[in-house]
Amino acid sequence: MSDVLKTGINQVRNVGRFNIGSGAFSETANLIEKKRLSAEKKGDQIGIVFLVDHFFREHKGILSKLNCLQGDAVEFIETDTEPTTDGIDMLTLKLRNDGFTNPAAIVGMGGGVTMDHAKAVSNLLANGGSAAQYQGWDLLTLPGIFKIGIPTISGTGAEATRTCVMTNSDTGLKLGMNSDFTVFDHVIMDPDLSKTVPRDQYFFTGMDAYIHCIESMAGQYRNAMGDAYCRETINLCRQVFLSDDMQNISNRERLMVASYLGGCAIATSYVGLIHPLSAGLSVVLGIHHCIANCIVMGAMEDYYPKEYDEFWEMSDRQGIVVPKGLCNDLDEATYNALFKAAIMHNKPLTNALGENYQSIMTIDRVIDLYKKM
Ligand SMILES: [Fe+2]
Repeated sequence: MSDVLKTGINQVRNVGRFNIGSGAFSETANLIEKKRLSAEKKGDQIGIVFLVDHFFREHKGILSKLNCLQGDAVEFIETDTEPTTDGIDMLTLKLRNDGFTNPAAIVGMGGGVTMDHAKAVSNLLANGGSAAQYQGWDLLTLPGIFKIGIPTISGTGAEATRTCVMTNSDTGLKLGMNSDFTVFDHVIMDPDLSKTVPRDQYFFTGMDAYIHCIESMAGQYRNAMGDAYCRETINLCRQVFLSDDMQNISNRERLMVASYLGGCAIATSYVGLIHPLSAGLSVVLGIHHCIANCIVMGAMEDYYPKEYDEFWEMSDRQGIVVPKGLCNDLDEATYNALFKAAIMHNKPLTNALGENYQSIMTIDRVIDLYKKM
């Protein structure tokens, strides 16, 4: 293997602990109580910060199961738009102003956007400064506040990765805080929590795990660990999305594991061509990450031919309609912005196409691809 592959990433930190399986969520209250008691013993703040997907605003009963007490902070995270550095800074400042400078723990419960908020706020409370300062690789110097991730939808792998993606409000650059300190200390994976996810959203988000891994497996920078994570992620996604009922309890559990393993995979290797083009759609046209990936698949026949066929087989099987034609008729400035937003992702593009990727992904080629989607 090593004679043809460049290793890429070879030092990786994984999630400290996790619970998995139906009913795992009931462990959360216990875990939070332990964090309060240990903070109290040390004379530290005993308050907990809960960052919860806005969906739960209407389902507040869940908060009592989280052992959320008076004096804790509860913030509902809007997920229609992706995180920005300004948004993260404002949330962190609000928490600081409310006295949560060193909470006993931060809990992020929801999808990738909510979990990324929890990771970013944890890093900022401990390290100070603003979010944009830490966009990049290994720029944090201190471990964040103890953080617990509770995914309620599966696919992005945010529960397992060492990054938290956000768009820089000034430059438009979509880049995370890549650091060992960004990794969750504890993750609770309970497939009962993803029961109410709408079908389309379940499919689009789940495909993020599949797409991460097909990109990695076709890349030039790989290693044996990343490949192993990828193979099992793809295997689980096939079981889920080629079945008749992708949302039954067994498949929800499989997809939760696929999401986690897919997250481990991209912490170990790089994505490829799909994510940079998808980032263009998100940054320029405001399309959500997971649906943007699926839209990009419409133009990937030449680059990932077998997976292209399999992707459309899965979407047909599940009766999911992927939007098409969104980039057919844009003005020149918008095409230029799409090109710029996509081409800046040099690591994944080098992984997919080699060091001369710029001579392959010319502006005309990239615009052609967007027109195909
Ligand atoms: Fe992704």
